Amino acid sequence: MTVRVPAKVNVQLAVGGARPDGFHDLANVFLAVSLYDEVTVTPADSLRVTCTGPDADQVPLDRTNLAARAAELLAARHGITPDVHLHIDKDIPVAGGMAGGSADGAGALLACDALWSTGASREELLDICAELGSDVPFSLVGGAALGTGRGELLTPLTVGGTFHWVFAMADGGLSTPTVFREFDRLTPDAAPPAAAPALLAALRTGDTTALAGTLSNDLQAAAVSLRPALADTLAAGTAAGALAGLVSGSGPTTAFLAKDAESAERIASELRASGTCRAARVASSAAPGATVVGRPARRPGPGNDRPARS
Ligand code: C5P
Repeated sequence: MTVRVPAKVNVQLAVGGARPDGFHDLANVFLAVSLYDEVTVTPADSLRVTCTGPDADQVPLDRTNLAARAAELLAARHGITPDVHLHIDKDIPVAGGMAGGSADGAGALLACDALWSTGASREELLDICAELGSDVPFSLVGGAALGTGRGELLTPLTVGGTFHWVFAMADGGLSTPTVFREFDRLTPDAAPPAAAPALLAALRTGDTTALAGTLSNDLQAAAVSLRPALADTLAAGTAAGALAGLVSGSGPTTAFLAKDAESAERIASELRASGTCRAARVASSAAPGATVVGRPARRPGPGNDRPARS
């Protein structure tokens, strides 16, 4: 059973002060984009996780992997022993602020649910997603949504057109808790977060220029403070013709909105030549959420299937 799950970009990420539970209240406007991980589940003697893809060596293969935790949580609720092999074919940058780990959690959950025919309702699956992490429910749902609370309470949003993006990948990841801590240091008096009506209208009408004028990320200053070179990447993307650029989520991936698909390709090649990023990829939105695709489109080869560490 194989499930394909999209990456996300936050077109607005408004962050409030730290809550007593350590999380932050958010107004988080998620947009799913057409970069995907694929999670394949097969029956096995015990739970194990393998991963292939350009960043595979950075993916933890132990029980901290959200795919493994998703299988365990669903199995525990339905009295099943989670003896499965979860294989992740990873195309979403690791620790990049694009919800790659969350995608694998949502993908494994849907794949195991289909394999075991648990009959779990959508609400139960969303509940498990929220237990796995703040961004995981959105990975299941896809499209566009406003996330409130710590980001897990979703209201679907209408998107009236296709948006074209360029993503510039940085070397290494950024830890989400570290970025939130830096936000707290830089923003001692954070205002209660709210979604911007003009941004929601731009999504609804599919107006790229209007969306470019309203993109915002309250974590950007924190991510740039921790990784000052991101300012050079943002400047290079804008100089290459992007309508706007911002840090994706907690970073360090940067996202650039392009006028159209052709412009996105041009910006991506200029970014690659600029020397300010490790790689640049184009993608479009909104992409569908986690979807059962049956057979894996890209099967793991014999020499690249890294075994689980524990
Ligand atoms: O929910 P998730 O496990 O993805 O969150 C990872 C970390 O990011 C949290 O432990 C917390 O430090 C930070 N976070 C936060 N406020 C949120 C979401 C995440 O402070 N709304």
